[in-house]
Amino acid sequence: MTAVIRAEGLTKFYGASRGISGLSLVVEPGEVFGFLGPNGAGKTTTIRLMLDLIRPTAGLLEVFGLDVRKQSVAVRSRAGYLPGDLHLYERLTPREYLRYVAALRGLEGLGEGEALSERFELELDRPIKALSKGNRQKVGLVQAFLHRPDLLLLDEPTAGLDPLVQQTFNELLREVVAEGRTVFLSSHILSEVQRLADRVAIIREGSLELVEAVETLRARAFVHVEATFAQSPPQEAFASLPGVRELERRGPVVLLALEGSADPLIKALARYEVLALDSHEADLEDVFLTLYREGSAGAS
Ligand SMILES: Nc1ncnc2c1ncn2[C@@H]1O[C@H](COP(=O)(O)OP(=O)(O)OP(=O)(O)O)[C@@H](O)[C@H]1O
Ligand SMILES: [Mg+2]
Repeated sequence: MTAVIRAEGLTKFYGASRGISGLSLVVEPGEVFGFLGPNGAGKTTTIRLMLDLIRPTAGLLEVFGLDVRKQSVAVRSRAGYLPGDLHLYERLTPREYLRYVAALRGLEGLGEGEALSERFELELDRPIKALSKGNRQKVGLVQAFLHRPDLLLLDEPTAGLDPLVQQTFNELLREVVAEGRTVFLSSHILSEVQRLADRVAIIREGSLELVEAVETLRARAFVHVEATFAQSPPQEAFASLPGVRELERRGPVVLLALEGSADPLIKALARYEVLALDSHEADLEDVFLTLYREGSAGAS
C-alpha cells in the first residue's frame, strides 16, 4: 500500500532562518495523524510544503506517491486544505464563497458543502465579515471538505470552535477515516490531539521528537494516585516502592505517580487507614512533560 505522505530528510530554511530540518515521517491511508508542537515549531511550514505552496530547501516529499513539486496539481486536486491563517472573501456570503471554491474544484453547486454547513449549523447567507471567529472557522472547514478529498491537511482546525462543534468535527473525522481517507492535522493542544488522532508526531524547533500511536503513549504514562489518610503516614512510606514516585503531600493527602504493577503500592497503602483513594490515567500532557524531563535529564 502506498503511503499517503512520505517525507525523508525534509528541510526548509527561510533564508538563513530555520523552518524545519531533516523531518522524516510516513502517514498511512485511513489514519488521523496529529502533528503537535509549540508555536514556531514548524507545523505550518510542513503542511505548506505538502501543497507545494512553499518549496523545500532539501529532502524528499511525496503525497499519494507523487512528487509534490512535479505533480502539485494532481496532489492538490485530491487534497483539502484548511490554512492556519484563514483569509476569506469578506464581502461574500459563505454560500457565494463555497460556490466559488466548488467551481474551482469543478463541482456543481456547493458539492458536499450544503450538507456539511447544515451539520455544522453554519448560516450560509450572512456576509462573511459579519461572522464570529468560530463561524468563520466553520467556513474554512467546509471549503476544505466539500470536494471529498482523499487527504485533509488541517492547520489547527479546532481553533475557535466550541465544544459541541468540536464534537461534530470529531465525528466527521471518524467518518472520513472509516472511508479510507486520511487526515493530517496540526495542533498545540495535547488533549485535543489525544482525542482526535490515532498517531501523533511531536515537533519541536523544526525537528521531530517522536512519532507514536496515541495508545502507546498512554501506556507509557503514569497513573496518578491520590490517597487520603486518617493520619499522615511517615515521610518515607511509599517513595521507595518499585514504580512509585511521590509527587506531593498536603497534610494527610499524598499524591503519587505509579508506573507498572499496582500491587506493591496497594500493599503499602493497606498498612495505614485510608479514608479515600482516587486514581486516574495520565493524559498526554503528563506523558509530554515526562518525556521532556527525561529529554533534559539525558542532555545534561
Ligand atoms: N515566511 C517566513 N519567513 C521567515 N521565517 C518563517 C516564515 N514562516 C515561518 N518562519 C519561521 O519558521 C519557523 C516555523 O514556523 P511555522 O509557522 O511553521 O511554525 P508553527 O509550528 O506553525 O507555529 P504556530 O503554532 O505558531 O502556528 C518559525 O521559526 C518561523 O519564524
Ligand atoms: Mg502554524
